[in-house]
Order: sequence, then structure tokens, then C-alpha cells
Amino acid sequence: VTLNVGVIGVGMIGQDHIRRLTHVLSGARVAAVTDVDLERAKSVAADLSGVRIHETGQELIRDEGVDAVVVASWGPTHEEYVLAGIEAGKQVFCEKPLATTREACERIVDAEVAAGRRLVMVGFMRRYDDGYRAMKDTLLRGDIGAPLVFHSAHRNPSVPPSVTTDGVIVDTCVHDIDIARWLVDSEVVGTQLLNPRRSNRAAEHLQDPLILLLEMANGVLVDIEASINVGYGYDIRGEVLAESGTVELAESSPVIVKREGRYGGRVPSDWRERFIRAYDVEFQEWIDAVTAGTSTGPSSWDGYAATVVTDAGIEAMRTGQRAAVSMREQPDLYKTMAGSGSTGTD
Ligand SMILES: NC(=O)c1ccc[n+]([C@@H]2O[C@H](COP(=O)([O-])OP(=O)(O)OC[C@H]3O[C@@H](n4cnc5c(N)ncnc54)[C@H](O)[C@@H]3O)[C@@H](O)[C@H]2O)c1
Repeated sequence: VTLNVGVIGVGMIGQDHIRRLTHVLSGARVAAVTDVDLERAKSVAADLSGVRIHETGQELIRDEGVDAVVVASWGPTHEEYVLAGIEAGKQVFCEKPLATTREACERIVDAEVAAGRRLVMVGFMRRYDDGYRAMKDTLLRGDIGAPLVFHSAHRNPSVPPSVTTDGVIVDTCVHDIDIARWLVDSEVVGTQLLNPRRSNRAAEHLQDPLILLLEMANGVLVDIEASINVGYGYDIRGEVLAESGTVELAESSPVIVKREGRYGGRVPSDWRERFIRAYDVEFQEWIDAVTAGTSTGPSSWDGYAATVVTDAGIEAMRTGQRAAVSMREQPDLYKTMAGSGSTGTD
């Protein structure tokens, strides 16, 4: 069986997902596309065969030839499409963020709980990266003891001038926040923002680098360094200090080259290169689960938690104080999916 997927929003990541659904993965095809920029939708569809173009996302979701929906439009538009997907009883893959406000995420959680089954997966692709999965497996095995501290660094070579410090917390740190919750298996209860010496490479309005501290409910402390103008490449680092050992991401270069008395490897140029395989694995697992009539991966609850924590991070930035993170009680629907997105535990 082939899963007919409809894609809402065919910008940068929407087109990348269409490429993998069409040329890389098995079991799915793109059946329909839409974009507020209809000309863009038409030009993307022109490269594919038998794809319907819809004028609106709502129309695409109602299309009976669409079995499942990918939402890859701008963040503030996610809520209405995810809610419509749930209403239609269709599985939805939503790029992060699930929604841009806590209230919108709660409406999605409520709708899914009312539907009585999981219909939404959020695109936190790091959970599908071989390195992070190996870290998680090491922690689950327990052979280095309980985690104590997680150091995470997210470094971009450069960012467009439109990026703001709020945006660094919402769009950049959000991946570190999700992977921290997943790796140490605990919720965030408090956050603080620290401002190191500013890089001369950063635009004047930006705090770059910044350090976001997360206090987890189980006592683990997480420091997230976000540096967005490092120039040398896209570098994702992570190390967990545990009671009797450490586990850290290896360098992502598959080979080391030695020549003329030196050794080195490639630093990825951007997130697409660094996480290309993670996106493929993420989508293949989603396709397989949807086809089997089940659900998998980061849930609406994970999307809600991430948005609540990024809100608190922005509050901590504004006030210069610790911001407490308070979440509603987790609905039972999500408790059975603890550890979702890991290898073998969901
Ligand atoms: N997982 C990741 O690492 C990752 C990476 C990049 C982007 N994203 C997320 O993916 C989403 C899209 O990002 P992008 O970089 O592709 O942006 P983009 O601007 O390149 O593309 C977004 C597309 O959505 C369209 N669009 C906007 N509003 C719409 C609406 N109401 N209905 C239909 N189409 C609409 C735009 O016209 C555009 O073509 C964002 O939420 C972003 O945060 C996630």
C-alpha cells in the first residue's frame, strides 16, 4: 500500500520533505500540495506526477485522496491545520513548532485527547539521529549511572539579518530543549538565561552567544549554548555527565583525513547536511506507523512542552531572572508513549 500524503507549505523544508517522500523513502507518495503562494505550489507540483494543487490547506485536508498530512507552513499557521487534521481523523506530521503559543498547543492536545488517539507527530528530528539515539541507548542501559548534567551546544555558521534573540530561543534552542527532555526523560521546571561576552560577528541587536539553563524535574541541569555566527560550520555538540561515566556525540564527519602532519574532517555546512539521515529515518518511521494504523514519535505533548519552555526562556531573558516553568497535568494519552521517538522503547 502507498500512503497518499498531502503537503501544506512548500517552502524550503516542505520541498525537502517532498524530495524525500518522492525519491528517497518507500511506502508513500505526494498526492497533493498547497501553499499561500499558489505559484510556488504550481511550480513544485510541475516536477511531480499526478499531484493535485489545492487553494487552501483546509481543502487539501478534506481531499479524500489524501490519507495523511504534512504541515510545513509558517509556525503561526500550524494550529489551524493540525486541528483540521485531527477533526478529519487524519494523521498529521507537523514541522516544529506544534504551535506558537501555549494556548494553541493546549487546544491541539485537547482535541487529540477528545479524539481518543494520537494523530499528531511533531518534527523534532534529532530523536532520529544515530548519535543522539546511541546516547539515549547508553543512558537507558544504565551502565554509566544516572545523568547529572547535559551540556548542549548549537552553533550555526551565520544567520539571516531577520533573526532576533527571541527567535534564537524559539527556533534554535527548541531542538536542544526537546532533545534534553527526551535524553534525560524529565520535564523542565525552571529556566535562566546567561549572556556571555558578545561576538563581534553578531548583528548589534543580537545576544550571541547565549546560554539557556534548564532545571529538570529530576534534578539534572542542562546548559544550552546557542552561537549563531561561528563561521566555521554547523556544529551540534552534546555531552551527558552521568554518575560513573560520560556519553557524548562523536564528530559527525564519517572519516578523518591525515595529511602533512595534521588530521581533520568535514564540519557540516548547515542543518540539512548534518541531519539529512535523521530526517529520512524520521519520515520513514512516520510512514510505517501511519500505514500500520499506529502512531509514533514526538507527540503533541512534546510540542506543547517545547513551546511552554521557550516561552519561559523568553521571560527569563526579559526579566533577567529565573523563570519557573509550569505545565498542565499530562493527559493519559501521552503517558503510554513515554520515550517516544527512541529506538525500541515506543
Ligand atoms: N525541523 C527542523 O529542523 C526545521 C528546519 C527548518 C524549518 N522548520 C520549520 O518548518 C516550517 C517551515 O519553514 P521553512 O524554513 O520551510 O519556511 P519557508 O518560508 O521556506 O516555507 C514556508 C512555506 O509556507 C507557506 N505558507 C505560509 N503560510 C501558509 C499557509 N497559511 N498555508 C499554506 N502555506 C503557507 C509559505 O508561502 C512558504 O512557501 C517552520 O515552522 C519552521 O520552523 C523546521
